[in-house]
Amino acid sequence: MQTEHKIILGNSQQMPELADSSVHLMVTSPPYPMIKMWDILYARIDPKIARLWQELKADNREETVTRIYECMHENLAEVWREAYRALIDGGIACINIGDATRTINGSFRLFANHSKIIEHCERIGFTTLPYVLWKKPTTKPKYKGKGAFLGSGFLPPNAYVTLDCEFILLFRKGKLRQFQPHDQRRYDSAFAKKERDEWFSQIWTLAGARQTESQIERRIAAFPEELANRLIRMFSVKGDTVLDPFLGSGTTTIAAMRNERNSVGYEVDESLLPLIEKKISFKPTASKLSIIRREK
Ligand SMILES: C[S@@+](CC[C@H](N)C(=O)[O-])C[C@H]1O[C@@H](n2cnc3c(N)ncnc32)[C@H](O)[C@@H]1O
Repeated sequence: MQTEHKIILGNSQQMPELADSSVHLMVTSPPYPMIKMWDILYARIDPKIARLWQELKADNREETVTRIYECMHENLAEVWREAYRALIDGGIACINIGDATRTINGSFRLFANHSKIIEHCERIGFTTLPYVLWKKPTTKPKYKGKGAFLGSGFLPPNAYVTLDCEFILLFRKGKLRQFQPHDQRRYDSAFAKKERDEWFSQIWTLAGARQTESQIERRIAAFPEELANRLIRMFSVKGDTVLDPFLGSGTTTIAAMRNERNSVGYEVDESLLPLIEKKISFKPTASKLSIIRREK
């Protein structure tokens, strides 16, 4: 099947290239709020966040930290709102997100990103569906969220539980998606019993996938292709259009190509283009690709 793929270099808080109700599925992983590696990106996208970090240096207040965290989620919510508009009725949104722990000015805090995203998406109109916990096999327990457990790791009560799971949140726009009776596209896209039993259980362990990744993919926290493949096969049919508003290295695009879906990906960081192009250089011949640069 011939499929079409668009990569748009620009900010996905606005997606004017997408018509209303033109996308069947979203598979994505945003920059995780309050994870240090994304601080600069959030400050660049929203000058208010940059100002709040400056304020925190002067006032040292827990309240300012909370405002930074909330502001980051308000920025993400603009993307969720655009995705909601672009999805068809019955379309599914899959959001891979991890919570964050961080000590700022000496006080330790958990930032439960998954619950903030659920709150925002429900306010936008999405229905929350049962979600997946992605158990990371490589994460070792840490003492107080920092280094490895040392001697005192056996003594209660001051150690913290390790965040070794990420969430794959699942949402639906509107009611169940409707198909004509005996629509062949559904039968052509069916999964096997073994796949169904594994994919529709709540805990996924995708062992080893990350070890094959390059330095840059690790730096931008790319998800394994298997994760995108599963979600695409679980929640769309061949010929559908898949959106990733936080494209990174292009994992969703290559997964869409391999599974005979169309795709649209947005990426604000143009320096990732060579990595994206390398990843999709293995594309099936029946995939047509266009790269679009927004007018500045
Ligand atoms: C966690 S990474 C995504 C990794 C991706 N799933 C992969 O497998 O490579 C998040 C990406 O979103 C991009 N990004 C952040 N905010 C954005 C925005 N508002 N619009 C478009 N891209 C954005 C970042 O530059 C980064 O590459």
